[in-house]
Amino acid sequence: MVSRMPKQKSPPILAANWKMNGDIQSIKRLLDGLRNDLFDEEIKPGQVVVFPPHVYLQMVAKNIGNTNILLGGQDADERESGSVTGGVSAKMLRDVGCDYVLLGHSERRILFSEDNDGIFQKLKQASNVGLKAIVCVGENLEQRKAGQVLEVISSQLKALISQDTSSQPEELLIAYEPVWAIGSNKSATIEQIGYALAEIRKILRDIDTDFYESTKILYGGSVTEKNIGEILAIDVVDGALIGGASLDSKSFSKIWRIAKTI
Ligand code: PGA
Repeated sequence: MVSRMPKQKSPPILAANWKMNGDIQSIKRLLDGLRNDLFDEEIKPGQVVVFPPHVYLQMVAKNIGNTNILLGGQDADERESGSVTGGVSAKMLRDVGCDYVLLGHSERRILFSEDNDGIFQKLKQASNVGLKAIVCVGENLEQRKAGQVLEVISSQLKALISQDTSSQPEELLIAYEPVWAIGSNKSATIEQIGYALAEIRKILRDIDTDFYESTKILYGGSVTEKNIGEILAIDVVDGALIGGASLDSKSFSKIWRIAKTI
């Protein structure tokens, strides 16, 4: 049975995945809104991380520079540098002020045919330049219906999480994002989230208890101000990866205000 009781744990992490949305004007408006509603809040470094499209990273970096909000890239290439037209390396993300990178999002797995091997290489690149990584795992609807949730997340994790912990980033976060819950207005239930995250924790412990004990695990998929409270109250949840609701400064600030009371 998943606990819904408020508990003593580290302050939750909110990661805002802006995806391929916005332009200079709308991102300025979003940042202005966040400045009004969020920037004065007592946010600890790493508690709120925003992931803008790559081309706007520097603009956002400048804007959030005097806050504790941190910056992340939505992807990084699996190669270090060179003849990769259109590629953005982990080192470049670092160079423009990123502390984080998001890897293995299901949209990238599906739209760009990313596989576990490639994501593992990206993770190594991130680790080499000192980026913290949020790696996404999660099943699609067909796999859920076929009763393969555990099998899918376990194979995704085992392929990405090395027993050789020296190749892992200094800080690794796992985001459980069931593909069917993303952008669908249909978040996973408290029981489904609790089950999947507890299993992820078990798998990490089985690989290397000492190393992965402190790994933070987030939930993502149709998180809004309406469900954030009960999601963060699940004892195995350390935070949330938020897409759609992070594009609206009012919604995201409301989510923050609920999260900080958990
Ligand atoms: P959503 O997206 O909150 O819009 O469902 C989450 C994500 O894809 O990271």
